[in-house]
Amino acid sequence: MKSIIVVNHPLIEHSLTVIRRKETGTEEFRRHAGIVSKILLVEVMKGLGTMSIRIETPLATMTGKKLKDDVVVVPVLRAGLAMLFAIQDFLPSVSVGFVGLERDEKTAQAREYYQKLPKIFASHKVLVIDPMLATGGSFDDTVTLLKAKGAKHITIVSIVSAPEGIKHMQKRHPDVHIVTAAIDSHLNDRKFIVPGLGDFGDRYFGT
Ligand code: PRP
Ligand code: URA
Repeated sequence: MKSIIVVNHPLIEHSLTVIRRKETGTEEFRRHAGIVSKILLVEVMKGLGTMSIRIETPLATMTGKKLKDDVVVVPVLRAGLAMLFAIQDFLPSVSVGFVGLERDEKTAQAREYYQKLPKIFASHKVLVIDPMLATGGSFDDTVTLLKAKGAKHITIVSIVSAPEGIKHMQKRHPDVHIVTAAIDSHLNDRKFIVPGLGDFGDRYFGT
């Protein structure tokens, strides 16, 4: 089974507390969700490979490093966009694929309404980003789709995860890495994460 990493950082703890508070408004929610996403993604990108290149500084020739892995990022619409905005600062020319999924409010089953993916090769490092891993249905559907398109190296990145969703993903996709900022207590009867932060998409997009 692949790893699960819970990223610990004082800035994450601070910003996560801000976005969990029910009185936090849209502007602050967006800012602090961006901070958590950036730190998480920096941690994920620690695993990327580099290659040596010769460069010239104004004073001398030296060996520097350049990223060598081809990365594809797949935000799960809509909430995954929040994390995409954060990653684009680090990888401005990264390939981006989109999968649109929406949970039915009664059954909590995800329904796909959009899909646009670049060509995916087995060598690609694929990052699937979605702030909430609740039942795991949305990540499961997205990873299943990406594997069918040829993805072999997949990491999923969430901000808040439920133990139920982690278990689901480990059972269905034991080859996939999981990186998260927090593992919460449980899901309630509406399949919302407790204590969680409510509906991420609604809070981030002000709907
Ligand atoms: C939320 C969230 C995840 C999904 C997680 O999306 O952003 O995609 O629920 O739940 P799961 O693990 O049980 O599948 P939602 O369906 O509310 O859509 P949105 O991103 O458009 O708000
Ligand atoms: N989606 C959310 O936005 N929040 C949850 O708690 C569960 C799914």
